[in-house]
This record gives sequence, C-alpha cells and structure tokens, in this order.
Amino acid sequence: MLKSKVALVTGSAKGIGFEIAREFALRAAKVIICSRRLKDAQASAARIPNADAAELDITDDSSVERLASKLSADYGRLDILVNNAGYPFDRKIWYKEFHKVDDDEFKDVLAVDLRGSFRITRAVIPLMIKKGGVIINVSSTPAVSGHTEGAAYTMAKSALIAMTKHIALEYGKKNIRAYTLALGNIASEATFNSMTPAERKKAANENAMKRWGRPEEVAKVAACIASDDFSFATGNTIIIDGGTVLL
Ligand SMILES: NC(=O)c1ccc[n+]([C@@H]2O[C@H](COP(=O)([O-])OP(=O)(O)OC[C@H]3O[C@@H](n4cnc5c(N)ncnc54)[C@H](OP(=O)(O)O)[C@@H]3O)[C@@H](O)[C@H]2O)c1
Repeated sequence: MLKSKVALVTGSAKGIGFEIAREFALRAAKVIICSRRLKDAQASAARIPNADAAELDITDDSSVERLASKLSADYGRLDILVNNAGYPFDRKIWYKEFHKVDDDEFKDVLAVDLRGSFRITRAVIPLMIKKGGVIINVSSTPAVSGHTEGAAYTMAKSALIAMTKHIALEYGKKNIRAYTLALGNIASEATFNSMTPAERKKAANENAMKRWGRPEEVAKVAACIASDDFSFATGNTIIIDGGTVLL
C-alpha cells in the first residue's frame, strides 16, 4: 500500500509513466501527473482516481521551480519521485554511429535524461528531507550492459545509475531511498508503435521470455519498491527485461 503518500511521476501523461502513476493511485497514493502540456496532464489525471495534474518541463529551471513551490504549498511534502521523463525516441540519433553524434544531439538527450532528472531531484529533495522518501530513476539495460546503438542515450542513462547510488549513500541517513529501474523492451506507444513488424519481432526475441514487457509490469515493480516493503534496500539497480541482462 502507498496510502497517504504523495507521488510525482515525470512524463506521466502517457506510456510507462502513466502506468506507474495509475498503479500508485490504485495503491492509494495521491499522484501528480506531469506533462510539458498542462492539458495532456489534466486529461490523463482525469482517468485516474486521486490524481492531480501539473505542467513540467524538466529542461526548464523556472518550470521545475514552479512545480516545487506548488508541491510545497499544496501538500507540504513529497514522498515519492519517479524520474520517468526521457528524450523522445529519435531514429536519426539512435542509429548514428558514435563518432557521428554531434554536440547538439548529445546535449539534447542529456538535457532531458540526465540534467533534467538531476534538476527536478535537486528541487524536491528538501520536501523529502523531513519525513524521508523514495526516488526511482528510470534507466535502460544498455546503461548496464552497453549497446551498439543509442550512444548518447546509453551515456545519459548510465549516469542515472550513478545518481541513484549517490542519493542512496548521501541521503540514507535521512531515510531517503533511491533505485534505478533498468528496462528492456517495454511496449509503449513510443517504442512498439514506432517499429516495423520485423523490428518488433527481433526485439521480442532478445530475451528469455521471447516477448515485449508491458508498462503495467514496470509499474508494479515501481509500486513495490516505493512501498515500505523495501525499507532496508537502497541504491539498487533492478533490471526488468524478461531475462536478457543477467548479473
Ligand atoms: N519503452 C521502452 O522500451 C523503454 C526501455 C528503456 C527505458 N525506457 C525509458 O522509460 C521512460 C518512459 O518511456 P516510454 O516508452 O513511456 O516513452 P514516452 O512515452 O516517450 O515517455 C517519455 C515521457 O517523457 C516526457 N518528456 C520528454 N521530454 C520532457 C521534458 N523536457 N520535460 C518533462 N517531460 C518530458 C514526455 O511527456 P510529455 O510529452 O507529455 O511532456 C513523455 O511522456 C523513458 O525514460 C525511457 O527512456 C523505455
């Protein structure tokens, strides 16, 4: 149960973020659905019981500051942050060889996946310090095992693992726990719907279970680790990939 917890999920108007927010709400948390477009956040929040909506662009300092102030005024605290927002899947960047990735492409990916997650985390930690909290960073299996494609993405997502470990160590004494979710192929609109049937089949065959994961399967893990059941585990990387990257 996440009863009486206040949870913020970045990029939660759709995809994996939405399912995480919905699962938290089903477990009785108050969730704040975020999008760069307030209307989208409001439309998604209306589909979930016990959800509020907020506008959030994690690449924009003033947007992040506004949201942190709103959290402080409306709830006076934050118990759970899920850094789910990620740079949109872009074939042009993803399939570029490492030595051809230009500065702007590298900067754009890091601006969301790494710097944005750092920015919102920094802004909300003061709201967690009094009572403790949980921070979940959504990363990807290439961050653990490496990959032949998506160089900028892999570097940004690897740094999130470092951020998780840092927060776990620095703030453990304040009862703030941190985790990384390293995801394999999860069938969201952003991934599954953008692929050809042949690409989908190839991706499904990469893991032991020979299928795509579902956003709900990620959401249930996130809800477990956000709960008090995980009270003596922190800093962990939890791989959700149907059995591809085995440690
Ligand atoms: N699906 C997979 O197979 C897979 C695998 C590994 C990791 N992941 C990670 O899982 C997370 C969710 O992925 P998804 O598949 O659900 O993709 P998605 O639908 O593209 O979700 C990403 C979300 O990030 C938000 N976002 C983008 N830029 C933002 C910004 N500057 N500020 C705030 N929010 C921003 C978008 O929200 P708005 O457009 O509404 O603002 C969007 O809802 C991502 O971090 C992704 O890298 C996914």
